[in-house]
Amino acid sequence: MTLLLSAGRVATLVGDFDRSPAYAGLADALTLLIGDGRIAVETRLPSERELTGALGVSRTTVTRAYAALREAGYAEARRGSGTFTRVPGGRSRAHDRALLPRPGDGDAIDLNCAAPSAPPGIAHAYAEAAADLPAYLGGHGYFPAGLPSLQAAIAASYDERGLPTPPDQIMVTPGALTAASIVAQAFTGPGDRVLVETPTYPNATDALRHAGARLTPSPVDPEGWDLDAVAATVRQTSPRLAYLIPDFQNPTGHLMSDDQRAAYAEVLRRAHTVAVVDEAHQALALEGQPMPRPFAAYAPETITIGSASKSFWGGLRLGWIRAPRGQMERLTQARVSMDLGAPVLEQLVLARLLGDADEILTANRVRLRSQRDALIGAVEDLLPDWDFHRPSGGLALWCQLPGAFGTALATEAERRGVIIAPGPVFAAEGGLDRFVRIPWTRPADELTEAVRRVAAAWSVVRERPVSSGRTTRVMVA
Ligand SMILES: Cc1ncc(COP(=O)(O)O)c(C=O)c1O
Repeated sequence: MTLLLSAGRVATLVGDFDRSPAYAGLADALTLLIGDGRIAVETRLPSERELTGALGVSRTTVTRAYAALREAGYAEARRGSGTFTRVPGGRSRAHDRALLPRPGDGDAIDLNCAAPSAPPGIAHAYAEAAADLPAYLGGHGYFPAGLPSLQAAIAASYDERGLPTPPDQIMVTPGALTAASIVAQAFTGPGDRVLVETPTYPNATDALRHAGARLTPSPVDPEGWDLDAVAATVRQTSPRLAYLIPDFQNPTGHLMSDDQRAAYAEVLRRAHTVAVVDEAHQALALEGQPMPRPFAAYAPETITIGSASKSFWGGLRLGWIRAPRGQMERLTQARVSMDLGAPVLEQLVLARLLGDADEILTANRVRLRSQRDALIGAVEDLLPDWDFHRPSGGLALWCQLPGAFGTALATEAERRGVIIAPGPVFAAEGGLDRFVRIPWTRPADELTEAVRRVAAAWSVVRERPVSSGRTTRVMVA
């Protein structure tokens, strides 16, 4: 389908572009808009004549700007039909060999990774942040606690959520997963018990295992948390830490209510167990609903982990730790054996994004909500014998099959060009093969096609559930 863009709309989008010289400023503005998705790939740009009129510039300016776009790979001329947007390298530029290592993977619909593409506005924030960078070049560039302006912006986001936070209680990390590794190194040692939900985010449990922790699984049922079962497990095992994902839990999508948070916090307090709360999906409430208070508001000793990956973009590779007073030194000691700080430019970008986040976050939620609805609609239509709870936020549908066929289904689906993660990937200690996780992180038409292929795979597996021989894939999100 050809997307059309009027000259008036381009004039609004490029706004007051740099005119020294005008053709270069126009080309730069268009490149940014295409790069960060505000002008979609495969869009037909207005003719040179139309754009000349709408912008009030000379025809040569537009001609040279389009030529510069073509030269840089952000547009191509198609004989007789006009100039179309593209990005250099095409779709393959978005692939990583560790995540898609097999021949043919590049053409598959990748739903192994529950991480969306960047919402519009990220490239623009990079461009603005580049202008802030020179002020930092006179220093050494290492910020093991984080760039002060970013610590302050993150702390302010907790203030807004009703959890007063001084900036020096924030440590900026290269992503939430690194944050979890730092916390694991700092607060567990060989043999320490750590309560983990099951299913859960597997890379975090690996980080805890690598630090020597013994994991105590605590089920998150298809209906959510069973607080009586949690209390019994905590009483019997007295874990040192409890790693929890109360906000649109990965992979089940459950949201822990305020009452449950209060009750959970009380259970942990009695056993002197410290909560490590991963809020990676906190900003992804898709129904416009108010979010429960942060877990740390109920349990002040909580160590909270945050991420920019799902609200803004995974490529920023930024996350953070919010630690109670007195714990920063221990975290810093653990951190410097892993890395010495996150990149300055990305921190400047995130500080800008957080300073004016509403527009991007809202657009991101609108997009994710319509993708979620498309996915749910397709699963309901094509896989009527599956069960799932409809998440009010987050990124994925946790689907229950009428039998332990998850791994066999993932293998068969892969043969049909769609990659999904089977339940055992998320199990803290085996099992859960009745489930598969399907994220709504791709555009709606791709999700519908993916479900069509999964349904075809399911019709085979349901009749003939063979063992899969599937090898584990690297999973990031
Ligand atoms: C619960 C949870 N924690 C952490 C991460 C990793 O986040 P980051 O990209 O910030 O390392 C993910 C990614 O999906 C996640 O789901």
